[in-house]
Amino acid sequence: VAELKVDPETASMKVLELSDCGNRISVKNGFNYSYDVLFAEGDILSTDSQLLCDVIDRRKCLVVVSQTVNMIYGRKIEHYFSSRLTDEAFRILPLPISENIKNMDTVMRICEEGKRFGLDRKSLFVAIGGGVLMDTVGLASSIYMRKLNFVRVPTTLVGQVDAGIGLKTGVDFAGTKNFIGSFHPPVCVLNDFKFLHTLDTEEIRNGLAEIIKIAIVSDPELFSALENNCKRIIGCYRIGSDTALTKWISVTAAKRMLEQLQANPYETELERLVDFGHTFSPFIEMHTRHGIRHGRAVAIDIAISTEIACLLGRIDIKSHDRIFSMLDGLDFNLHDEKVFDEERMWQSLDSIALRRGGKLNLVIPTGIGKGDFLRRGEELDRGILRQALENISSFSKESF
Ligand SMILES: NC(=O)c1ccc[n+]([C@@H]2O[C@H](COP(=O)([O-])OP(=O)(O)OC[C@H]3O[C@@H](n4cnc5c(N)ncnc54)[C@H](O)[C@@H]3O)[C@@H](O)[C@H]2O)c1
Ligand SMILES: [Zn+2]
Repeated sequence: VAELKVDPETASMKVLELSDCGNRISVKNGFNYSYDVLFAEGDILSTDSQLLCDVIDRRKCLVVVSQTVNMIYGRKIEHYFSSRLTDEAFRILPLPISENIKNMDTVMRICEEGKRFGLDRKSLFVAIGGGVLMDTVGLASSIYMRKLNFVRVPTTLVGQVDAGIGLKTGVDFAGTKNFIGSFHPPVCVLNDFKFLHTLDTEEIRNGLAEIIKIAIVSDPELFSALENNCKRIIGCYRIGSDTALTKWISVTAAKRMLEQLQANPYETELERLVDFGHTFSPFIEMHTRHGIRHGRAVAIDIAISTEIACLLGRIDIKSHDRIFSMLDGLDFNLHDEKVFDEERMWQSLDSIALRRGGKLNLVIPTGIGKGDFLRRGEELDRGILRQALENISSFSKESF
């Protein structure tokens, strides 16, 4: 199946293309970039898999591995590279990384290690880890000698369906999430489901929040698949059962996500449906110093935005209830006393609007599979936000 998308503004200059070949999604944007997002069938670190080495294609590489992933998979990674490449061709850098040090110091540390190892313009960074590592190594690659190629091997569900597949890199700055960053396409994204087997339940749930986000605004069929399997889907991902279902869900979510991103790769259009779940969530993450992780923050934001849509009569009750039942069925904890602070939450919208050209563009669902945008002031006022938070607090108390 090949889908062609034409950017209406620059139709004659640019053809945005997304072609899908089984478990491979090829992303192309004219002459600007092209890369594949692969969902590997087997274990990419097994001795008989050539995939990663083919992508590296004899280029010198610094393999940056998050410390947690290195603790679990370090020996396998070391064995994979050392059995194929000479000592001069690669170096493995286990990197302590977390949301709390997703900053320029960590980016500089990666650049420093790259320089020490002697990476030149033809070399590569290979990033193996979660979304935080993808964003940080991505930013380092985009500024190292002005631009270096990089390969992503995301090891979390968030990474495989969202953080690892698009163009954006970034780190937090001066108290604002992902304030500094770049658009820097990878040369390839290699997704291996086996990495997900060592994630805990909460991390799978976090990834499902991103999948639910894209399903609600773009794909009713994906939403139904999650809805029909919400009691068992986390287990399926963790233990690797019903792989046909989890593959279909992950590949479909990645495709829908990429369709949205490809139509607007450099975000010249600031009304983006993929921002659903990402208006209140930066405040929730930063205010709790990442005590509430990205995925759960997105789920809380989905709940708030859906409740606002309902209060304004923009979504039918049945769709609203289906969204809340899904979040409940997946055991998302949607209430937290610390962040249900209407005043601070409202104030935090200033910096969101700043990034969206002065307009809030709050994404609300208007049914299952579609969404719309709200402006602050004329359409969304503080009273509506207050009411939405109160309603969610009382639903959450009822469900306990
Ligand atoms: N660039 C983008 O477009 C984009 C999109 C979505 C999210 N993000 C960013 O991604 C980040 C969230 O990513 P995340 O949820 O992957 O968080 P994360 O990178 O912090 O990973 C979550 C946890 O899982 C651990 N881990 C990773 N792989 C593992 C494995 N296979 N087995 C066991 N443990 C493993 C990590 O060490 C970490 O403790 C946020 O900073 C968010 O801003 C970026
Ligand atoms: Zn996200």
